[in-house]
Amino acid sequence: MGNPNRVKAESGFMRWVDDRFPATQMWQDHLSKYYAPKNFNFWYFFGSLALLVLVNQILTGVWLTMSYNPTAEGAFASVEYIMRDVEYGWLIRYMHSTGASAFFVVVYLHMFRGLMYGSYKAPRELVWVFGMTIYLALMAEAFMGYLLPWGQMSYWGAQVIISLFSAIPVVGAELTQWIRGDYLISGITLNRFFALHVVALPIVILGLVVLHLIALHEVGSNNPDGIEIKDKKDEAGQPLDGIPFHPYYTVKDLFGVAVFLFVFCAVIFYFPEGGGYFIEKPNFEPSDPLKTPDHIAPVWYFTPFYAILRAVTFSLFGLDSKFWGVVLMGAAIAILFVLPWLDRSPVRSMRYKGWFSRIMLALFAISFVILGVLGVLPATGGRTLVAQICTAVYFAFFLLMPIYTRLEKTKPVPERVTG
Ligand code: HEM
Repeated sequence: MGNPNRVKAESGFMRWVDDRFPATQMWQDHLSKYYAPKNFNFWYFFGSLALLVLVNQILTGVWLTMSYNPTAEGAFASVEYIMRDVEYGWLIRYMHSTGASAFFVVVYLHMFRGLMYGSYKAPRELVWVFGMTIYLALMAEAFMGYLLPWGQMSYWGAQVIISLFSAIPVVGAELTQWIRGDYLISGITLNRFFALHVVALPIVILGLVVLHLIALHEVGSNNPDGIEIKDKKDEAGQPLDGIPFHPYYTVKDLFGVAVFLFVFCAVIFYFPEGGGYFIEKPNFEPSDPLKTPDHIAPVWYFTPFYAILRAVTFSLFGLDSKFWGVVLMGAAIAILFVLPWLDRSPVRSMRYKGWFSRIMLALFAISFVILGVLGVLPATGGRTLVAQICTAVYFAFFLLMPIYTRLEKTKPVPERVTG
């Protein structure tokens, strides 16, 4: 019965299943006979942690939806109701709101690992491109989720970001109205953001994560040395530097999960609003379309891009600074997609790249953090200048990459993985 070419259990219940569904085959392909490099380090915890945080967001999100009221009249009060009256509602809400920040911490570290070890390079370009698409969808998901509590920052943050679309020539004004579904942000906007946040985008993100992992398992994981473990195999045809994912990495990842949960619980129980960085202070006031908060800033995970947007102070070709700011902000994200084709180095990992690559990666990471800090603060002349310098460094990292990765001297790559 079933596909005779599949690996199947000998007998019993699993045999019955295998004749109808390739369970044993899938278990072997993706876990017990999926060979992963034996030299995974700290940085390789964040993929499984991203999965964990994703599951946390979905579960807590479903429970929040049970008591949340997606209307302009009822949203704010329903969140207060969840916080005060729903059994463990405060915990579920904080797990979700702080979980959003945790998601970005984990994903940024996960992406940085990719940058360090050249995990985006051939043959893993699609793993990276699917990853970037996840990142884009995640940003949309977080942005729409932030409108739902209908607080002051929900309202005015969305106002600032949606109005950016009006900078697009010709169609801008109409496009903005189409996104809002109204002449200003209203209950209609809230309803559609709710639908997208709880149904459409989670489906997209889940689908993309499946594609991300299928692409990864097709080519196999990279590792801190950036060596292809499939090149050196034993007589049984298994990579000499590989170990089965299960039980070795399932157990190792469980340790990562335990440490992560320890930190995550500490934050949720003792520092759930992150001092105004996870839930901004004005969001504890109900939204008021007639009262603009003194200072509007997005949540920390968007601020590097927000700082790039604000760093543009010039107009060009008859188009104003807002337009060019939007273009540059979009380019800052878009350029990450083509990274696999910008890196022309013969080696993958920073361990064997030259000094130029190392310095540029360090400068890039520092600029990204500085931009993140600047994006939280109100703009001043001096800060704008720093943001402009950091924006230049951000783009130089990518745009000069085809040159410095080709010119620099790389170190010889060892035959087998090192420790
Ligand atoms: C919901 C978000 C995400 C989930 C659940 C996820 C999950 C995973 C998992 C489980 C792995 C294998 C374990 C590991 O290598 O750490 C992985 C690998 C990888 N991911 Fe993600 N990922 C996510 C987002 C991203 C993003 C945003 C990027 C980059 C733009 C990305 C790029 C990569 C790359 C390049 C690898 C291969 C790394 C290597 O082999 O060295 N991922 N991902």
